[in-house]
Formats: sequence, structure tokens, C-alpha cells
Amino acid sequence: MRCVSWLLLGTSLLVLGPAVRGVPGQCPDLCHCRGELQHVICFDVGLKKIPRVSEATLLLNLQRNNLGSIPTGAFSESKGLISLHMQHCHLRKISSQAFKGLTKLAYLYLSNNEIASIKPGAFEDLTALTYLYLDGNHITELAKGLFSPMSNLFILQLNNNRLRELRPGTFTGAKDLRWLHMANNSLNTLQPGSLDDVENLAILHLDGNRMSTYPIAAMSKLRVVEELTLGRNPMRTIPDVAFQSFGRYMERLHLDNMGLERFSDGAFTGVTAIKSLHLDNNRLKTLPKSLVYGTLTNLTLSHNPWTCNCQLSPLRRWMDSSRVRPDALCASPAQQRGSQVRDSTAFSSCKVKQKEAKTGQR
Ligand SMILES: *[C@@H]1O[C@H](CO)[C@@H](O)[C@H](O)[C@H]1NC(C)=O
Ligand SMILES: *[C@@H]1O[C@H](CO)[C@@H](O)[C@H](O)[C@H]1NC(C)=O
Repeated sequence: MRCVSWLLLGTSLLVLGPAVRGVPGQCPDLCHCRGELQHVICFDVGLKKIPRVSEATLLLNLQRNNLGSIPTGAFSESKGLISLHMQHCHLRKISSQAFKGLTKLAYLYLSNNEIASIKPGAFEDLTALTYLYLDGNHITELAKGLFSPMSNLFILQLNNNRLRELRPGTFTGAKDLRWLHMANNSLNTLQPGSLDDVENLAILHLDGNRMSTYPIAAMSKLRVVEELTLGRNPMRTIPDVAFQSFGRYMERLHLDNMGLERFSDGAFTGVTAIKSLHLDNNRLKTLPKSLVYGTLTNLTLSHNPWTCNCQLSPLRRWMDSSRVRPDALCASPAQQRGSQVRDSTAFSSCKVKQKEAKTGQR
């Protein structure tokens, strides 16, 4: 009997709960909370406004609500936040000082919204931010200095937006940026100087844009790029020394589906560590002398009109000595048309260059 009445009392206390919600220090309405409010989860609960959470909260998950905008100071009572999740929230606008006070925030997820406008100063106070996800939005331009508070930024995801060009000053202050993803935008060009502030980039994704010339001036400031993707840009040629400033580090290069017609002879000058090279679905007939095959372990060449003559014989020698023997059909000369480079008789009378022959004997 006694037991039951205690239970009833407990229940009535729980029922009182919601009346006082909405105050920082309580679990917000419709949300559930764990670990003394350290985690506040409001996943797909029909919120229309950003709830108030206290300084005790480290993680706030607001995914899949209809929030519309992030007003100035929206999180000013939530200074303890480390991780903020706002994917699929129908966000359209981020106001100036939207994240004011969030000096501990390390992870900010804003992917898959309808963000068209990020006001200058929107990211003020985000000095600890390390991971910023903005992919799948409608962003057309980035204000100069937008990322300048983020001296610890490591990953910036901007895939699947509507960026048209990159200008100098875009990344001012983000000096530690290592991964920059801008695939599937509308970039025509990277202006000279636009990457000067992020010279330590290791991964740069630019596939699926509209660049018709290789942005050599902007790229030549990069020093340690390990992975570069340029596939699905309408570029016809790759110029001399395109990759030289980071050639010792570059391991993966994607140049597929570009309509690429030729490489300048010195296009690969300085490239000494490349492992993975993707050239499929282009209009290439041959490969330049500057390409050194020794380090390659993954090469795709299919759907190009290869000319099977002695200029391609370094490729054939690499295939003969390699475990991977990728598809590459000869389109010319006429008697070789349709044969695989790896099987073709076109190379049997090609001379091995003296220098290479000697190296081979050692
Ligand atoms: C870019 O678009 C292509 C083609 O629609 C798609 O296959 C690819 O996954 C997209 N890339 C990213 C990073 O979303
Ligand atoms: C070669 O590279 C492609 C593209 O990055 C990757 O999907 C594939 O797994 C790689 N293959 C090997 C054998 O490493």
C-alpha cells in the first residue's frame, strides 16, 4: 500500500515537469535529455524555434526540425556546447553573430538545409571550431573573412552548393585547414591568391565544377596536397608544372570525365609519389614524358582514344611489370584499333631509353 502511494507521488511529480520546461536547466519541451542535460536530443520532433539549453549541455541535436533561420545570439545561454547538429532543419539564413558565445564548439553540422545567405560575422566566436559541415545548401558566395575566427578549422565541407568563384581572402585565418571539399558546385575559377591562406591543405575536392582551365596560380601556393579531385570539370588541357608545388606529397589524383585532350609535356614535373591516378572517360591519346609510373598502384585509363605508338611504351612497360593491368583500348593506328594496350604488338620494336635501361639492370 505504502509502496503504491510512493509510486503515485512519483508520477505526479513527473507530470508537473512540463509546466516548467523552456527554462535553461530543464530538458526542453519535446526533447529528451541524458546525463544531467549533457546531451539534449530533439531529433525530428516538430520544433519551430531553437530551444534554450543551459551551459551544462555539451551536445545539442536539432536534426530534422523546421527552424528557418538562426538568429543573432540564438545560443547565447549554451556556452558549453561542443557539438551542434542542425542537418535537415530547413535553414535558409544564418544571421550575423548567430553562434555568439560558443567558444568551445568543435563540431558544427549545417548540412542539407536551404542556406543561401551566411551574413558576415555569422561565425564570430567560433574559435575552437574544428569540423564545419555546410554541404547540400544553396550557398553562392562566401564573404571575405567569414572563416577568420576559425584558427583551428581542420575540415570544411562545402560539397553540393552553388559557389561560382573563390576570391582572395575567403579563407583568411583558417590557417590549419587540411580538408576542403567543394565538389559539385558551379566554380568557374579559383582566383589567384584564393588559396594562399590555406597552404597546408592535404585533401582538396573540386570535382563536378565548371572550370575550363586549370587554376595554376591559385594551386601553386599549396605545398602538401595528398589528394586532388578535378573530375567532371570541362578542362581540355593540363599545363606544365600543374602539380609541382605539392608533387612530392600527391598520392591520389582524379582527372576522370573531363573531356581532357592532352597534358603538356611537363604536366607531371615534380610528381614523385603518386599511387592512384584516374584518367578514365576523357579524350586522351597519349601520356606525357613527365609522368613517372614507378609508384603507381591504381591507374584507370578506360574510354580514351589511345594512340598505340612508342610514346605510350613507358605505360606498356609499367603494365608488364605491374600486378594491375588496367583496361585501355588502342584507337589508332588503324591496325591496332580495338586491341588492349597490355596485349598490343605495337610496342615490340620500341626502344627503351638508355637511362631507363641502365636503371633496370641494377
Ligand atoms: C557529386 O555529384 C555526382 C553526380 O551527381 C555524385 O555521384 C557525387 O556523389 C556527388 N559528390 C558528392 C561529394 O556529393
Ligand atoms: C583505386 O582507386 C579507386 C578510386 O579512388 C578506388 O575506388 C579503388 O578501390 C582503388 N583500387 C585499389 C585496388 O586500390
